[in-house]
Amino acid sequence: MRITVTGGAGFIGSHTVTLLLEAGHEVLILDSFANAAEDVPDRVAGIAGRHAEVFRADITDPATYNSALADFRPEAVVHFAGLKAVGEAMENPLEYIRVNVGGSVALFQEMAKIGCNRLVFSSSATVYGDPVAVPIDEDHPLRPTNPYGRSKRMVEEVIEDWGRANPALSAINLRYFNPVGAHPSARIGEAPDGVPNNLMPFVAQVAQGVRERLSVFGDDYDTPDGTGVRDYIHVMDLAEAHLAALDLTGAGPGVEALNLGTGQGYSVFEMLRAFEAASDREIPFVITSRRPGDVATSLADPTRAADRMGWRATRDLEDMCRDAWAWQRGRNR
Ligand code: UFG
Repeated sequence: MRITVTGGAGFIGSHTVTLLLEAGHEVLILDSFANAAEDVPDRVAGIAGRHAEVFRADITDPATYNSALADFRPEAVVHFAGLKAVGEAMENPLEYIRVNVGGSVALFQEMAKIGCNRLVFSSSATVYGDPVAVPIDEDHPLRPTNPYGRSKRMVEEVIEDWGRANPALSAINLRYFNPVGAHPSARIGEAPDGVPNNLMPFVAQVAQGVRERLSVFGDDYDTPDGTGVRDYIHVMDLAEAHLAALDLTGAGPGVEALNLGTGQGYSVFEMLRAFEAASDREIPFVITSRRPGDVATSLADPTRAADRMGWRATRDLEDMCRDAWAWQRGRNR
């Protein structure tokens, strides 16, 4: 198939492009490289043995990429491009609307012009907001608690409206829980700019000695060991889910949302111990106060994704830590 991948040089995008190329698809990456390294497409080609076409463009500026898209004639689009830092979104909500919502609308208009009706959208479990019950299934109330989450939900709503107006549209909103890990080759992975916001890249940097110690944000949550519990999912499992979702968009029109998680939760301490085992390093930590906005437990019910796509996560915490550690060691050598 001919598939355009926006944000295809980013963390989840690059892993997905790798699998698409390996499966024999023709891929056009549209990426601004605002939050991705220039050499990612070459690294991907090094793994897959084939190249994707690459077009540098910002999704908010369709005049720069409409010809490239029209020339490529994609049968489907996988849309990852966007901003994704919760703190930054709280400081600059308008920018999150402009890029995540405005950029998506611009992209969808270009898709409509060329009659491309198959879409897989990179959404987030953050659209659920504070869980009223766990595990969280797709019928859980949608009440995002920050502008980043709201921007993701707004794009889902845009897609739902587009689907009502365009009966040919086949779109899947994939709601990711906590993506971690890296490609087992250690050639691609997560490359946060500056101090990582997220637990796994932070822990990896502490294990390597780049940072002194982990701050554990609260040990008084209502969880078995008092630290926050999350549904961490290996990025290769996520990437595989995008291929399954693309298949599903070929089965007929409609718009639906699917959770991508393992259904298994781990606490901050469990994550820490697993990473110590994978890296054979001690990871110093201090307990600090809770991070504003954090919840005790977030956990997916991934049943619907299994029913609809025949997909389920197969990699465990040991795989996640091993692959994240191999990537981290390779980066700063
Ligand atoms: N944590 C620490 N120390 C750190 C970083 C995180 O103790 O330095 C803890 C958090 O308190 C939480 C857990 O580790 O209990 C996981 O935190 P992450 O920041 O890795 O992940 P979150 O669940 O907070 O955030 C994720 C995504 C966001 C998304 C959010 C809500 O990264 O993009 O889920 O769905 F918005």
